[in-house]
Amino acid sequence: MTTAPIPIRRLVLLLGFMGCGKTTVGRLLARRLGWAFVDLDEEIERRQGRNIRQIFEESGEPYFRQEERALLEELLQRGQQDSLVVALGGGTTAQPGSFELLRAHGGITVWLDCPLEELRRRCHGLTQRPLFKDAASFRALFEQRLPFYQQSDFRVAADRSDPDAVVEDILQCVAF
Ligand code: S3P
Repeated sequence: MTTAPIPIRRLVLLLGFMGCGKTTVGRLLARRLGWAFVDLDEEIERRQGRNIRQIFEESGEPYFRQEERALLEELLQRGQQDSLVVALGGGTTAQPGSFELLRAHGGITVWLDCPLEELRRRCHGLTQRPLFKDAASFRALFEQRLPFYQQSDFRVAADRSDPDAVVEDILQCVAF
């Protein structure tokens, strides 16, 4: 009797608000697992030959979201064959249908949860984030995003100074 192979889930998506450490933790996690790593924003910047701030300023947020979605779909396809860690952007999962898409492709979602004050401290003075404007709008956006992040399969505390400790927590809770 032949049985259908049990799907091995090898697609991990890190999400959370700007400054939570998705890129740093994702790179370390991929290295530990021996998997490929893609940072959505970095890959968009590489393909466009301009940074996120320029894309927002020159082409607008709707254009950025369209490119973000197209790349996400491409990576979800790639994740069907390759073992892949993807660092999403802070707003990726807040776009319509985003979570459904991740789930439909068997992606494991991990929320890097970090308190607002710590996120603000980390983002302060950085100029590459077009949606980081002032304290009030930062808080409003954070609150608007929380219900999306809370839909993740796993949550790890990301308000740590050592990103390796966050990686350890992910390895523990996801139990690859
Ligand atoms: C955004 C977060 C950014 C980047 C873009 C929009 C957002 O990613 O995708 O500036 O909507 O929260 P990081 O979370 O990596 O900063």
